[in-house]
Amino acid sequence: MTATPPIVAPSILSADFSRLEAELAIVDPARDWVHCDVMDNHFVPNLTFGPIVVGAVRKLTRATLDVHLMMERPWLMVDEFRAAGADHITVHLEACRETREVLRQIRATGAKAGLALKPATPYAAIAPYLPDLDLLLVMTVEPGFGGQAFMPEMMDKVSAARDLRAKKNLSFVIEVDGGIAEDTARTARAAGADVLVAGNSVFRATDARAALAGLRAAIAG
Ligand code: DX5
Ligand code: ZN
Repeated sequence: MTATPPIVAPSILSADFSRLEAELAIVDPARDWVHCDVMDNHFVPNLTFGPIVVGAVRKLTRATLDVHLMMERPWLMVDEFRAAGADHITVHLEACRETREVLRQIRATGAKAGLALKPATPYAAIAPYLPDLDLLLVMTVEPGFGGQAFMPEMMDKVSAARDLRAKKNLSFVIEVDGGIAEDTARTARAAGADVLVAGNSVFRATDARAALAGLRAAIAG
């Protein structure tokens, strides 16, 4: 299912997995993506899920599945995540050795290829890969956990990527991930973000459906 930017991507990391079907029912496949955070307890100090759960999510929604791999040696599992139903597969620059080869491998599966950078990784490290990307993921918290505070200083990376995209006529989308609520969503959107991942502000809200609608409205127009 395709959505056009600006897009909100609720992150199931903050959802109640005992009632995932009901949690995912708030997602509108025509407008939203579903963000799946894969953590391996090596690349980040937390452990979540793998292709089995991504496959279950695939059965529960027609929305674009945006799979964020916070894992070492991600290239070993690209095919499995694609087979499970991932539409986008994003790997971390810090976890790759042959980055271009990993991006090519993702594209060869038919998935869109994304590259993520941690807060400490400078824009200059990712800039050479921008022509090879479908998606750039700028982390706005330290990867590993939901519910952390947004780092506004990451907006320089977002704006630099947006400016380079315009200058070189490239077409990757820019996603921000971490600490997104209505106020920070507006900040990130103004800096150039096209896709806003939101975990706690959606799934830990009293009314998740209303929270998602509020985020959509905050970045509309
Ligand atoms: C953090 C994950 C995020 C996380 C964001 O490592 O990559 O996708 O779900 O959660 P919030 O929106 O609560 O900061
Ligand atoms: Zn994420």
